[in-house]
Amino acid sequence: MAQEDIFKKLVSHCKEYGYVFQSSEIYDGLGAVYDYGQYGVELKNNIKKYWWDSMVLLHENIVGIDSAIFMHPTIWKASGHVDAFNDPLIDNKDSKKRYRADVLIEEHMAKYEDKIEKEVEKARSRFGESFDEPLFRSTNPKILEAKEKYDALHTRFAAAMQNSDLNELRQIIIDSEIACPISGTRNWTEVRQFNLMFATEMGSTSEGALKVYLRPETAQGIFVNFLNVQKTGRMRLPFGIAQIGKAFRNEIVARQFIFRMREFEQMEMQFFVQPGTELDWFEHWKNLRMKWHQALGFGESNYRFHDHEKLAHYANAAADIEYRFPFGFKEVEGIHSRTDFDLKQHQEYSGKKMQFFDPERNESYVPYVIETSIGVDRMFLQVVSASYYEEDLTKEDGTPDSRVVLRLPAFLAPVKLAVLPLVKKDGLPEISRKIIDELKFDFNCQYDEKDSIGKRYRRQDAIGTPYCITVDYQTPEDQTVTIRYRDSMEQERIPVTRLRDIIADKVNLRELLRKL
Ligand code: GAP
Repeated sequence: MAQEDIFKKLVSHCKEYGYVFQSSEIYDGLGAVYDYGQYGVELKNNIKKYWWDSMVLLHENIVGIDSAIFMHPTIWKASGHVDAFNDPLIDNKDSKKRYRADVLIEEHMAKYEDKIEKEVEKARSRFGESFDEPLFRSTNPKILEAKEKYDALHTRFAAAMQNSDLNELRQIIIDSEIACPISGTRNWTEVRQFNLMFATEMGSTSEGALKVYLRPETAQGIFVNFLNVQKTGRMRLPFGIAQIGKAFRNEIVARQFIFRMREFEQMEMQFFVQPGTELDWFEHWKNLRMKWHQALGFGESNYRFHDHEKLAHYANAAADIEYRFPFGFKEVEGIHSRTDFDLKQHQEYSGKKMQFFDPERNESYVPYVIETSIGVDRMFLQVVSASYYEEDLTKEDGTPDSRVVLRLPAFLAPVKLAVLPLVKKDGLPEISRKIIDELKFDFNCQYDEKDSIGKRYRRQDAIGTPYCITVDYQTPEDQTVTIRYRDSMEQERIPVTRLRDIIADKVNLRELLRKL
């Protein structure tokens, strides 16, 4: 099945099983805004806990805060967001659709990459074991031609972005013959800059109202609290401040479900270091963050780093961690070496010193900062994309059967175990309820007695419950139950008294954190 079809199914699965709903659905929705349902919120909370504990629990020099969404508007002037948090946009005059000019070009470049990968895959299946991939990549004429076109376009595009040259961006779109996906025409407007911040007013009278912004990143709440935390927590460099919270961006291109939203959540950590040590810390955090992703077991080859060629004016190094989504490799997290830019700007605009007194060096200075920044929603999409499987379970005698299963890492699963009485009578529901009453303090449990046991297993597979406990007629006799494992579908008979230990061992966050 084509990857796009799998993605469509994944999106409907998220809706059908209470993971993600379109916001304001009964009013036909609101563009790029989503609500999380009863299972979605549990998964999201578990992702946040994995991140929070990996930062705050595992590092004695990292602490957390929760700063307000509204902040003094001068903060956004100081940070550069008022003047420079822009996307280049272009409209198609026929379809009246608006696009990000840079995204149109990037998508066009990705087509060359796809072409190269398709050629490689074709050759791999043709040559089998004897396939020499490096040789093929460096000699095949079709690949060389696609690569040459890609490189030329890439050089031109990087220069245009570096120089914020809007005319050149438009010219690249024209020269590359990029057409509007809706109208199919190349009837484009000029490229214009568009600021992504949402503004509103604070105050009771229109004359006295203050124009404030919904924060477009959580990071600035950390920067402006840097000295509060440093002093009250008696922190010494290097140290970090972590925060999870909502951010808002008026995205022009809002597509691919929860990949790009107008209201989303970030998990950000700013790590304050001595000037001159920042590039070593940058490497450290790059590697640690990659380990955090890979510990989930979704396959190392599904991740890659993408080093930024165009650095933001405040950064001296930056890299993305990309995951192979069904629609290609895309950014999930950014690691940025932000120098002393933000603290210095706030020092200048607020007139307050943002310096750390270093007792070892007996001097005060503005620290440098390494930032790790990941979107909760994008991480959510990574987790569900990696976990969604459609399995053919056709029996040996040819009877067709299949299942959809979310192979979520056990710690992340919204429901850890379902307790299912084989029948709705003869005391089996009561025994099942008793088991839940014992286990509900430790795990998110679900009781289900409706439909056949096979249907109930499928329902739990679809929401990703790792363990199903079946209470049958043997249970009242010897206090044993069957435990069914979601991924292997194997079943085992075990004493009720062992349930807590068996499940606790498998759903524990500790095992995941130990891998870091
Ligand atoms: N403080 C740095 C910062 O905000 P960014 O690269 O703009 O950097 C960091 O954003 C992360 O936030 C991204 O890697 C992505 O996971 C998430 N993110 C950014 N914009 C988003 C959007 N519109 N919808 C969902 N997630 C988004």
